[in-house]
Amino acid sequence: MTTAPTPQTIKSVGIIGGGQMGSGIAHVCALAGYDVRITDVSAEALTKAVAGIDANMTRQVARGRVTEEAKNAAMKLISTAPDYAIFKDCDFVIEAATEREEIKREIFKKLTPYLKPSAIIATNTSSISITRLAAVTDRPEHFIGMHFMNPVPVMTLVEVIRGIATDEPTFETVRDMSVKLGKTPVAAEDFPAFIVNRILLPMINEAIYVLHEGVGSVEAIDNAMHLGANHPMGPLALADFIGLDTCLSIMQVLYEGLADSKYRPCPLLVKYVEAGWLGKKAGRGFYDYRGEKPVPTR
Ligand code: CAA
Repeated sequence: MTTAPTPQTIKSVGIIGGGQMGSGIAHVCALAGYDVRITDVSAEALTKAVAGIDANMTRQVARGRVTEEAKNAAMKLISTAPDYAIFKDCDFVIEAATEREEIKREIFKKLTPYLKPSAIIATNTSSISITRLAAVTDRPEHFIGMHFMNPVPVMTLVEVIRGIATDEPTFETVRDMSVKLGKTPVAAEDFPAFIVNRILLPMINEAIYVLHEGVGSVEAIDNAMHLGANHPMGPLALADFIGLDTCLSIMQVLYEGLADSKYRPCPLLVKYVEAGWLGKKAGRGFYDYRGEKPVPTR
């Protein structure tokens, strides 16, 4: 068995998925000096990912958080391709695809033949068992959960989750790499939804029940938690920001994984997802984002 590389030997990072999480991870990795390679299912998705990273870095330059030179250097470190062949020299690959177990399992099965034996595989899953995902790879000891928060360039937490087989060098590598990315790592055990989402998603689900039962309007609920609990955004705006499909997937993992009815997904959340009203990325969720200002949909 090969030993996991140390943080010093990681130079290139592969990222699977150029959506909001994958792009954010690419953004912080490139700014930290890693050579970054992104794949996604289509060339359009990759073009959109790079344009999004460019726009977010430009915003950081405008706010004086990042210099123009650092931005230019980081953008030069990012390359994209629609297949896994670009990962052949990568020391580390992180999967940030859709939060659906069958999709992730397929990705890992296809990915492993392209990788160096020493490469670490991380998943940015927000809820799915690391141990179960690791089991479909050829290297469960070099497999780990590395869960970033959205928006990745702003949020400073990374949850680091060992599967049952994850070895200590892999854990230390990922913990040290998180620090190099300017984040604070927190270790979480491999139980459904780990720490943040085990606590956050039931709160969001409860806010949707409060809406469903007519206790308050979208605006009232969000104002109540924004002003009354000092949350930076209300729970329904946050649900839209995370993506209602992701929120529902996480609630299903909690409900099934912990077999407790207190995690039952709110039927109104299910209805929004069935309608394709998936939140900000779809233009509509608990708010309608298609006009100049977000307008509550209930
Ligand atoms: N990229 C880079 N910078 C960004 C950014 C992005 N995508 N989005 C926001 N920013 C920066 C802004 O440039 C701004 O920077 P300065 O402080 O230098 O001025 C700063 O973030 C604040 O942004 P804004 O002024 O535009 O807006 P805001 O003050 O309303 O903050 C927010 C926006 C950071 C999103 C804030 O509302 C917030 O923290 N919301 C809660 C986010 C949260 O809870 N995330 C966790 C979600 S759960 C999760 O991710 C886990 C999961 O698996 C589901």
